[in-house]
Amino acid sequence: CKKINGLKNGISFPHPPPLSSEKNLMKKPWSGRFKQSTDVLMETFSASISFDKRLYACDIEGSIAHCKMLARCKIISPSESQKIQKGLKRILKECDEGRFQFKDELEDIHMNIESRLRELIGPTAGKLHTARSRNDQVCLDIRLYLRNEVDETVKEINRLCKTLVSLAKKNIDKVIPGYTHMQRAQPVLLSHHLLAYVEMLLRDKDRFLDARKRINIMPLGSAALAGTNFPIDRQYTAKLLKFPEISHNSMDAVADRDFAAEFCSASALLMMHLSRFSEELVIWNSSEFGFVELSDAFTTGSSIMPQKKNPDAAELIRGKSGRVFGNLVSLLTLMKGLPLAYNKDLQEDKEPLFDSADTVKTCLKIFTGMMQSAKFKSLSIEELSTSGFLTATDMADYLVLKGVPFREAHEVTGKIVAYCLDNGKTLDKLSLKELRKISKRFDEDVSEHIALKNSVDRKNIYGGTAKKQVKAQIARLTKKLK
Ligand code: ARG
Repeated sequence: CKKINGLKNGISFPHPPPLSSEKNLMKKPWSGRFKQSTDVLMETFSASISFDKRLYACDIEGSIAHCKMLARCKIISPSESQKIQKGLKRILKECDEGRFQFKDELEDIHMNIESRLRELIGPTAGKLHTARSRNDQVCLDIRLYLRNEVDETVKEINRLCKTLVSLAKKNIDKVIPGYTHMQRAQPVLLSHHLLAYVEMLLRDKDRFLDARKRINIMPLGSAALAGTNFPIDRQYTAKLLKFPEISHNSMDAVADRDFAAEFCSASALLMMHLSRFSEELVIWNSSEFGFVELSDAFTTGSSIMPQKKNPDAAELIRGKSGRVFGNLVSLLTLMKGLPLAYNKDLQEDKEPLFDSADTVKTCLKIFTGMMQSAKFKSLSIEELSTSGFLTATDMADYLVLKGVPFREAHEVTGKIVAYCLDNGKTLDKLSLKELRKISKRFDEDVSEHIALKNSVDRKNIYGGTAKKQVKAQIARLTKKLK
């Protein structure tokens, strides 16, 4: 048997051809100490292949890197490494083309691939799992998967932000009522309202990118829990897989799913924002409000009421926030009672995680499409003036400019509002005579002061709704999103 020397610490590994008795070893990779076969029910119960098969590309990518590292460390021979890599690439192709036969009895994606590798290249396949356990392997797979999901999610967040910024630009002259307590409060630019969501989405993006730092850590070498017996080069594997860091504690590495919970948490916050926005679109799209018309492409009809055009996309996004919140709670609950290190409970991490990742990405895409095709209406002064006294605060501020203390000005304006309500009038319809009956401080210039457009433009403070300020924000965000 050929020995390959050259390891720093003088250990060398023989590479004998496998014994013929090893050839049929793999029914189940762990079947050695078992005398009875697995109960049929148990086999289905413990299998995760139905959902973790989607990790196949990550699993193979990780295995190829591990295999290259084993050869570099002379733990397997160069020809064994070549053979294994070739087999793995063939499996990748089979999976990509939908030809791979996933088997429940092989439990999970790791054992399905290893078993197929054995079919393809024989007992050499058994060398791939040297210095590795499924416990660190599955962590690696999820980290590779999530790193990619973060990147795709961030791309979709950017697309939505750009869409909102361009809508803000296009609709810069539209004024809508701003609300507090769901009561008409003060006039604002529609653009200002839209850009509020861009701020939220950019915080969401930062949260995903921050989580990415803790996702981007290479766990291989931790093996089952204690670290491997073999003097492998963990940094080399990390380099091949573009991980900037390796994990520092093998027990933590195989038990940790914080990074997955962080992803679910960032997803939950993002969905909360999309859900709020959806709620507003549902309201704005109603005939009572009529601020926006959602396109036919993102609405559906009723099977009984021919006149209906329902804002289903917005409603579904609002509805789907529930499952994404639930996924975070599932994951936290899953982990809270687990002793170190790996426990099979952790297999349950995948479905909530995958569901959050899928839901968030789809909702972002749908939201972007819905916004791109939405038509915002221009509300007339009449529409804005009816019901509600949007410029009442401006009237109070007018009196302050005339030297009235704010509290007193507030009281006077309150009386004017009461007068309007009693007489079926709006602020802009009052004569100077009527105003003067309540306060002598009113002059001719009051009507100009409480005009809607002037009210908006007077909020000329950084972060305010004045057109000048909103335009400055559009410029800042356009630059930031480049
Ligand atoms: N399918 C398993 C999971 O998702 C892989 C790790 C199994 N490890 C074990 N010791 N049974 O967690």
